Amino acid sequence: MKTVRDIAAMRAAVRDWREVGERVALVPTMGNLHRGHLSLVELARARADRVVVSIYVNPTQFGPSEDYADYPRTLDADRRRLRRAGADVVFVPGDEEMYPFGLQAMTRVSVPLLTEKFCGASRPGHFDGVTSVVARLFGIVQPDLAVFGQKDYQQWLVIRRMTADLHMPVEILSGPTQRERDGLALSSRNQYLDPDERRRAPALYRSLQRCAQAIEAGRRDYAALEADGRQALEAAGFQVDYFAVCRADDLAPPAAGDRQLVILAAGRLGRARLIDNVLVTSA
Ligand code: PAF
Repeated sequence: MKTVRDIAAMRAAVRDWREVGERVALVPTMGNLHRGHLSLVELARARADRVVVSIYVNPTQFGPSEDYADYPRTLDADRRRLRRAGADVVFVPGDEEMYPFGLQAMTRVSVPLLTEKFCGASRPGHFDGVTSVVARLFGIVQPDLAVFGQKDYQQWLVIRRMTADLHMPVEILSGPTQRERDGLALSSRNQYLDPDERRRAPALYRSLQRCAQAIEAGRRDYAALEADGRQALEAAGFQVDYFAVCRADDLAPPAAGDRQLVILAAGRLGRARLIDNVLVTSA
């Protein structure tokens, strides 16, 4: 596995692969890799001949009071994990590669509406940072496909929309959320939880499951289900950001007859902001 830091070397590697007809997958990450990321690399391996994993803690997707400075940076351990997982290249650009004109003058990529609710409402500018960096990574690596985690469901939808709207020839896949034994979705931010918060954290997934079961059993009173979800999270000590039942393909409120739904929830437990979701097909 090669570690590549500059764009010219990254492009040269991709050019060589393309010349012999190989398909290239990109798994964009911010590092501090866990089993969840490695499952995305596995999915990429199954769908392409070559796998590039990017590691870049992207400053433009963090708000001023968020954890950009503290975000765990663990490149040596990440490289060991990626070698074992069978990645071909780990791409580790610097800020000057990603934003050569500086953060004030950078070109921004913005997907309106879909980014204005849920995580976008509580983290203003977050998704513009995500789409702006992912568009650059696609421009640099020019992958045939890219893999993102289902845990960040809204992010996955936003990237799919950007790719479709800008006619980017990249297939956007999502890999299933990986969980601890008690259901907590794997996330780099779980390490911010103290032991008491860690004990409470699985309430997030449990509340989503309960809501999904109710919908599968035929309930359609989504506002009441959302209120129950919020209440369960508050009882577990969460400062709830949102608990919402939505249409799966555009996060609109479900209309009668919509069957493919997603239940999204986010909240704070101490320093950690946790998000999770469950897909459900209504009866
Ligand atoms: O999901 C993430 O880790 C980041 O938002 C991403 C997609 C790598 C962009 O920085």
